[in-house]
Amino acid sequence: MQQIDLLIHSAGQVCTVPGPDGPQRGAGLGDLGIVVNGAVAVHNGRIVAVGPTADLRAQYDAVETLDANGRCVLPGFVDPHTHIPWFGDRAGEFEQRLAGATYMEIMAAGGGIMSTVRSTRQAILDELVADNLPRLQRMLRYGTTSIEAKTGYGLNTATELKQLDAIMALNVQQPVELTPTFLPAHATPVEYNGRTDDYVDLVIHDMLPAAAEWMQEYGARLFCDVFCEQGVFDLAQTRRILETAAALGFGLKVHADEFVGLGGTRLAVELGAISADHLVETPEADVQALGQGATIAVGLPGTPFGLGHTKYTPAKAILAAGGALALATDCNPGTCWCESMQMVIALACRYMGLTQAQAIAAATRNAAYAIGRGHEIGSLESGKQADILILETADYRQLGYRFGANLVQTVIKKGRMIT
Ligand code: NIG
Ligand code: FE
Repeated sequence: MQQIDLLIHSAGQVCTVPGPDGPQRGAGLGDLGIVVNGAVAVHNGRIVAVGPTADLRAQYDAVETLDANGRCVLPGFVDPHTHIPWFGDRAGEFEQRLAGATYMEIMAAGGGIMSTVRSTRQAILDELVADNLPRLQRMLRYGTTSIEAKTGYGLNTATELKQLDAIMALNVQQPVELTPTFLPAHATPVEYNGRTDDYVDLVIHDMLPAAAEWMQEYGARLFCDVFCEQGVFDLAQTRRILETAAALGFGLKVHADEFVGLGGTRLAVELGAISADHLVETPEADVQALGQGATIAVGLPGTPFGLGHTKYTPAKAILAAGGALALATDCNPGTCWCESMQMVIALACRYMGLTQAQAIAAATRNAAYAIGRGHEIGSLESGKQADILILETADYRQLGYRFGANLVQTVIKKGRMIT
């Protein structure tokens, strides 16, 4: 018998969320690869086998065993688009929006992203870290075991780097893993009002090289993201920034088609970006481009919901075109302060037309590929990191169906039981 650290056994369903080698695309989305009465063998923080309980029990001698007692076991959720870390909140702006102001009107009046920039610039590193820790702790209890984390509330070199440092500090202070993204082109800061092209020059000549140096120092690869939107950064500015970033070794991401479809998604596919995110007002040609390219479409249904809008990512069209779809929260203090991937799954089932199985695969395997970590996390396959959830329920279909409560009973991160 082979000695292992942990055997999770007697699960009614083990959702493995299997390959091909890569995300599940098009009609292939939603294969949960369920093992009935299943077990997962874990050693040194990694999965060594998944299979029927009887087989694994006969094969492995575990130091610790965990009886899933008929419940559903699945991979930890991966949240591939968040704006963590930020400082402060914008509850007052939400009240303004309830009274009729739009998100873009508030932004044009100097609030919105710029308001969070002011608070984030003032916070010292320790404050920024302390303010974001409880956020990650809540996410973990709701089953999110890895996230992407963006800068974008600094908009000057020093504060953007402070946000990167906060991401690295948060990485070591708690179990959720953070994959960093550099987003200096999130808005034009007030000191560059009316001079967006000058700010783009600063991004290209100063901020990106500083972040490239940071990459060298930490040995961590960054993605570079741009908010490509009418009144924010246009398509030509987005292209300049992303082409410079690619040449400096960054991976690429784009905020595209959130309010107006400018062609950001097509540009993302053309430049080989790992993901194009939001995709609400996506033109048909861009939907087709997703079917041809490797760029993953990231739907963020919490955002239209958070804004009180009624239009969502056209998931069915993206899948019909053969595209790969992932889901994320977009967790941020402006449009969508949502920390729960379970809530995102519930919204995606209702407003993006996904089945529970499709939404779960989009929130695990495909989400992991959307941050370049699909070879390590997002599925329960031998060799992958042991990031595992046990639900309170026996049937995966309770996810999406029920909402507003936490259906995750147990969270295991790198083989260690957290809750
Ligand atoms: O993804 N769209 C741009 N960025 C965020 C909002 C950020 C904010 O309002 O603070 C988003 O929705
Ligand atoms: Fe966003």
